[in-house]
Amino acid sequence: MGTINVDRIIDRHGRDRSSLIAILQDVQEENNWICEDHLRQVARELGLPITQVYGVATFYRALSLKPRGKSIIKVCVGTACHVRGSGLIVDEIGRQLDIGPGETTQDMSYTLEVVNCVGACGMAPVVIVDDTYHPGVKPHRAKKLIKTRAKA
Ligand code: FES
Repeated sequence: MGTINVDRIIDRHGRDRSSLIAILQDVQEENNWICEDHLRQVARELGLPITQVYGVATFYRALSLKPRGKSIIKVCVGTACHVRGSGLIVDEIGRQLDIGPGETTQDMSYTLEVVNCVGACGMAPVVIVDDTYHPGVKPHRAKKLIKTRAKA
């Protein structure tokens, strides 16, 4: 189980079944993913069957039941970013972190994700590190983004 306080999140929303999605979203927001212990805790507190909570968590694509790192690096591979070399950025970041798209480093520091157009084509190629948009990224600059974060 992660170190986040799920009780506090549930308290904030109230132990009402209609709060299920909002609670799961907040667990994910704080932990970057939702582990099985947290799913069970939410189910217990809301008096719902675990299968129902699990079903909701798997239905919503924004929720992840797979471990994700403290930092989420998203590389846009939509058309505009792709033609400006986002594939090379994915390769470079993957090489630096020794992971492939969709994977998380063993120390749980980083997850690398590829995403479709994020609506910022004028800034292509775009890399988003923890919700901060980095425009016009070159592969060598992508490397710097990782190093900067690692020192933080
Ligand atoms: S294709 Fe990357 S922002 Fe649109």
